[in-house]
Amino acid sequence: MAKKKQSNKRKQNKKIQKKIIVQNINYIENNNVIPNNEIANTNIIYKDENEEKGKKKKSLKIYWIIPFFFLIGLSILFILEYNKKSEDSIQTTFEYHKIINIEELNNVIELIKLDDYQSENLLEYLEYFNQYDAPLQHIIIIVNNNLKNIEYNDTVKSFIEHKNFINDNLKRYLDYYSKYNLDIDKTIIAVNNNLDKDDIKLNHTTESFMKQKYFIADRLKRYLKYHQKHSNLSYKEIVSRINSNLDKTFYKDTTKADLNKGNLILVNKFYYLESSYEPSNLVNISKKYGNGKLKKDAYNAFKDMYNDAQKKGLYLYISSPYRSYDRQNTLYTNYSNIDGTTNADKYSARPGYSEHQTGLSFDLGTASNHSINDFEKSEEFKWVKKNAHKYGFILRYPYGKTYITGYIYEPWHYRYVGIDVATYIYENNITFEEYYAYFIESVN
Ligand code: DAL
Ligand code: ZN
Repeated sequence: MAKKKQSNKRKQNKKIQKKIIVQNINYIENNNVIPNNEIANTNIIYKDENEEKGKKKKSLKIYWIIPFFFLIGLSILFILEYNKKSEDSIQTTFEYHKIINIEELNNVIELIKLDDYQSENLLEYLEYFNQYDAPLQHIIIIVNNNLKNIEYNDTVKSFIEHKNFINDNLKRYLDYYSKYNLDIDKTIIAVNNNLDKDDIKLNHTTESFMKQKYFIADRLKRYLKYHQKHSNLSYKEIVSRINSNLDKTFYKDTTKADLNKGNLILVNKFYYLESSYEPSNLVNISKKYGNGKLKKDAYNAFKDMYNDAQKKGLYLYISSPYRSYDRQNTLYTNYSNIDGTTNADKYSARPGYSEHQTGLSFDLGTASNHSINDFEKSEEFKWVKKNAHKYGFILRYPYGKTYITGYIYEPWHYRYVGIDVATYIYENNITFEEYYAYFIESVN
């Protein structure tokens, strides 16, 4: 009988404790403060159990309170159903912790909100927090990686805060770091490229790649592989080639072009547009400037360029701007019928792979001679070559870069990318492929 009463009492206490924890969480969420009387209640209840064992007298009030708290408990359970994550955490806290203080409650609330939080690890997060003064997000990463026994120090902190840090790799970084006595940067690059798995130590070759201006950390293995096959090429050249995906095969290793890149979308022999894709904001080109449609940004920039060229007595003419998928299909099919696929591929894009479908590109002639084939000989070309970047245009298929772009030199074909990007590409003499890989694609 006495045992039964004791167990009832324990159950009652658990319900009350739970209610208070939930109340405290609500208080913290709403006010960041727990009223003093509630803290006092928490303490009393936790101390309560043993003290009250000896007490025989139970007031009727207490019995009345049991169903009341029972109902409250049920309501709380119902509310918690809507947030399984919170419920798990509170249960875990409740089961393992004899005493929950305000700081811990606060931490529980903060932890739940963080990425990669796992309710089954809650106790370990809190234990680690009690040992080390580490940000909660760092604690989550450390504990989730089963590294709760490591000391939190500047090295661990620097790894986690590194821009190329990958959560799951923490243990591998630490192992490789201590094995080869490297710096944080190099360790991260090596491990992200799985060099630790093959127990490859960083050497002169790998470090030479890392020093290159357009080195992209997660392409290191591809650089090394290409270097083995083409040891005559410089590190710089290999970086440029791999960044342009030249270890892959045109029209074979393809992916969809990323439409989220706006005016910096890349469309080439690796990145395609679907047949249904039509750019937004296409506007009709007025007869004075040429014929067809362009995206508004590109058109406005062209008008500026046209006007400034005109002041020099030069007259530009847009012969071929936006082309639909179907139009490109017709062109490419005609060229390959006449010239064969291998030749057609040198100067004409296959449908879906033409930059003309973006509405950001056009082919130029002059007002007196619309033919794109004669453009290179014109005064207009000389001026455009030197000035197009000031309006946001790049010569998209430059001389000597066929192996990167996949197309012969096209002095007539320009692409809008905006003034800053066009100026960078012009001044650094790189292709859009190289720019895109380093500044756009790898920055995500
Ligand atoms: N002439 C360019 C490469 C095109 O067809 O899109
Ligand atoms: Zn073109």
